[in-house]
Amino acid sequence: MRYPGHHRVRPPPPARATRPEDRGPDRKPMFTCGDAGNAQRRELRHRHGRQAMANAFEVLERDHEMVKRLMLELESGPPLTGSAERESMLDRRRQVDRLITEESKHEAVEEEYFWPVVRELVPGGNELADHAIAQEQRGKFALDALIDYRPGDTRSEDTLMGFISEAREHIAFEEEQVWPELRLVISPERSAELGAKMERAKRMAPTRPHPHTPPKPGLLKAASPFVGAADRLRDLVTGRSR
Ligand SMILES: [Fe+2]
Ligand SMILES: [Fe+2]
Repeated sequence: MRYPGHHRVRPPPPARATRPEDRGPDRKPMFTCGDAGNAQRRELRHRHGRQAMANAFEVLERDHEMVKRLMLELESGPPLTGSAERESMLDRRRQVDRLITEESKHEAVEEEYFWPVVRELVPGGNELADHAIAQEQRGKFALDALIDYRPGDTRSEDTLMGFISEAREHIAFEEEQVWPELRLVISPERSAELGAKMERAKRMAPTRPHPHTPPKPGLLKAASPFVGAADRLRDLVTGRSR
């Protein structure tokens, strides 16, 4: 159908069942993997342009991979003592700063956009979200302590190793227990929309952990641009922004 001055209008897509119980006994993921999944993503890119470049899982996975790599580097770095090169100390401090920044942004965006979708779509999603948010909250306190991290200092290194161990557990929980359930019920369109929202939100997200702010999505949405801007200013003043 064509209207003057308008592009071709597509007929509305057929209604999709979004919950597994509505889709019969074979609960197949709504976003398939492998070649079929790639074809779906190509189609979405074609339809939605850049906004569909990465779906929710791809956006989150990219963050997870970066954080895992940073943690591995920090774990396997040479032990630092009082005689360590100043440059190695500075490198390690920069890596910790990056870990704080990336983790803070990632968890803030999950809190704001990802967990509400899990609660809405996944059967038992409230329990999954509550468990994950409790893990994230513990992580924020450790990240907050790491703002004063001193390379080679026993207490700082213990805090860092404690954070890494809990962060690995949290990431595994999300990837192995939450994502598979969400893949079963989220449509490709919703996943693409969620991915785009999270990518956009990351640009303004807080770069510091804020463990004393209650992890409520609405609160963060209202405060995030201001908190994020204040964090970036503090990062600039303290030399954390690199
Ligand atoms: Fe998380
Ligand atoms: Fe995550």
